[in-house]
Order: sequence, then C-alpha cells, then structure tokens
Amino acid sequence: MAKNAVITGWGYYAPSRVLTNADLERIVDTTDEWITSRTGIKERRIASDGETTSTMSVRAARAALEKAHLRAQDVQLVIVGTASPDYLFPATACLVQAEIGAMKAGAFDVEAACTSFISALAIARGLIVSGVYENALVIGAETLSRLLNWKDRSTCVLFGDGAGACVLEATNASVGIESTVLHGDGSKGELLMVPAGASKLPASADTIERGLHFITMAGGEVFKLAVKSMADAAEEAIAEAGLSLDDIDVLIPHQANIRIIEGVAKRLHFPMEKVFVNIQRYGNTSAASIPIAICEAEATGRLRRGDKVLLVAFGGGFTWGAAVLEWFGAHDGMRPPSPLERAAQVLEDVVERVRPA
Ligand code: COA
Repeated sequence: MAKNAVITGWGYYAPSRVLTNADLERIVDTTDEWITSRTGIKERRIASDGETTSTMSVRAARAALEKAHLRAQDVQLVIVGTASPDYLFPATACLVQAEIGAMKAGAFDVEAACTSFISALAIARGLIVSGVYENALVIGAETLSRLLNWKDRSTCVLFGDGAGACVLEATNASVGIESTVLHGDGSKGELLMVPAGASKLPASADTIERGLHFITMAGGEVFKLAVKSMADAAEEAIAEAGLSLDDIDVLIPHQANIRIIEGVAKRLHFPMEKVFVNIQRYGNTSAASIPIAICEAEATGRLRRGDKVLLVAFGGGFTWGAAVLEWFGAHDGMRPPSPLERAAQVLEDVVERVRPA
C-alpha cells in the first residue's frame, strides 16, 4: 500500500465572459462600493451558452493530466465535486470520464456545496492510501450562474462559474496530503439551499412561479458559522498532521467573502500575507474555488516544493473541512513510482544482488 497521495497535476478553466460590479449595477439595485466593501469581489466569470459544469471540468481536467504526464486512459477514478451538475443524473464525473477518454476509470459526483472539493480530495486520498487506486482525477466545478436569481441582489452578486482539477497519485515518498477533516451540520441546511427541482419539491409551475429553483441564503447566519467552523477545521487538520500553525507556509481558503477569509485568519492569528486570495476576480465559485486558487498560487510562485499548505472550506449543508499537504509540484516527467514499478525495482535489486560477480 502507498504511504501517501500526492498532487502531481493541476489545471483550471474560467469562462472568458467577465461580469463586473459595474455590469451588476445595471442589473440589480447595487453598487460597486457595496459589493467590494462587503465581499471583496470586483468581478466574476459567467459561463457562456454552450458551457456547462462538465465542459469546464473537461478543460480543467485535460490541463491537470498534461501537467501530471498522465494519460486519460490510465486514470482510475474521476470524482467531480459540484452543486451545479449538468444533470441530476448521470453524474457530471461520468460525462467528464467519457469526454476525456478515461474509459477504465470509476466515476461519481460528490455534493457538499462549497466543501465539495475538499470532500472529493479526502475520498480520493483515502482510496489511494488504502491501496484501492493508484491515481484519481479530482475536480471541483460549478455553473452557479444558472441557479442564481438575477433579481435577488443579496445572492446574485456573490457567485461565479469555473472549474479546477487535481491529479492525485500514490507515492511512498513523504510528500502529499498529510491530513483531511470533514464535518457537517444538516440541521442548518435551510440557511443555504436550492429548495426545488429534486424529490422533495419536483419542478412544477408553482415552484417556478415562487422562484424555488434559485439559491436562497441567510447570508448573516452563514457568515458567522463559516468563520468559526473554518478556523476549527483548520486547527484540527493541522493537529492531525502533527504540525502547528507556524509550520504552514500558505493558507488557501475557500473564496466566499474576503471578510470571512480575514475573519478566519484573525481567529487563527495567521498572517494575511500567507493567505492566498483571488476572490476579487472570480467571486465565490463554490467547489471550484480551492482548485482554481491552487493553480493560481502555483503559477504566481506562491506555492513551492516543500511548502506546507492548508486548505479550508465551508458551504451549504452545512459542511466544512480542511486538508494539510506538502506541495510536491510538477514531477518533471518523473511520476512517483507505482506499486507495480516499485515491485519491479525491488525485483531488479534482488536479481542484481544474487547475480554472480
Ligand atoms: N447591494 C446593495 N445592498 C445590498 C445588497 C447588494 N448587492 N445585498 C444586500 N443588500 C442590502 C440588504 O438588503 C440590507 O439592506 P437593509 O438593511 O435595508 O435590509 C443591507 O444591504 C445589509 O445587508 P446585510 O445582510 O446585513 O449585509 P452583510 O454585511 O451581512 O453582507 C453578505 C451580506 C451576503 C455579503 C454577507 O452576509 C455574506 O457574505 N454572507 C456569507 C455568504 C456566503 O459567503 N455564502 C456562501 C458560503 S460558502
């Protein structure tokens, strides 16, 4: 069994269509000043007509596979974390699996709202470390613009679309994901939800008339619980990894609101200089926010080999979780050896040793 699961590839896709706060001023009764001061968001990306959660996932997945030098046909598992799938079923992961040609892979979706990516990461890591799989493609992707009520200024200014993907591979090296923690509190589910469109309230003229297919949210309640829960999960994941906060080089939080991010940093007494923030350009992309941030942190030199990285998220459900990992980075074509390759190496060594001089 492999000792660790390590991220060896990463990639993201953000739609080219940019919706600025000035654009929103023309849609709802809001101002750039209100949105910026309350959320930190300046603009967000909106999927174009032909784009969906699966098409964006495919773009992100291909970039991640290329970075990992892993062929799609060798991918063993595809997990998509999303609250805005293409369909209720089939799973978006199945659409991605077929489109990229990962025909030997298992495929399923994970829905834990904004915590979906960390949840999917935790599952993939568990399956790799326990020896079930040697690799997994973990994607966080959303097309929340399709679930927004564009007449509700309290929600439509907050969210954006996009996708991010990571390739996880088995390794015996001391790098990779060191801990994951997941939590939930279903008693607060109604504070952030899409009420209709599934088994409880199937789509009807009435549900459409009452606007029940859109995201509804009690923003203030979500805000308060998000800060405390994210800080608690961060501390738990760090302790589980046998580290202290001082060991963390980079905090990559779910990008929901700059005030939530600052609140978490303050609660942890963690310097904002070590926190990666890109919410100003994407808004809250839910499951996609952490993998997109990982990609941008790496591209801008904020993530370097050996860095201890803390990921933390909170979302509808309620759900929250965190992960600690040591960043390995690109393996420059040298993937960590698979168990089969390792076995072959051992065999070679034995043959070498017993061969007569
Ligand atoms: N533009 C202008 N005014 C707005 C507005 C907008 N886009 N949205 C809401 N308002 C108004 C409200 O109607 C309210 O007006 P009122 O006092 O006349 O009733 C006023 O602004 C204050 O609203 P309030 O809810 O107190 O603001 P806030 O400081 O709590 O900020 C959020 C609101 C939504 C930004 C904040 O609660 C938040 O970010 N919550 C967490 C949301 C989130 O991240 N969810 C996803 C979690 S993963």
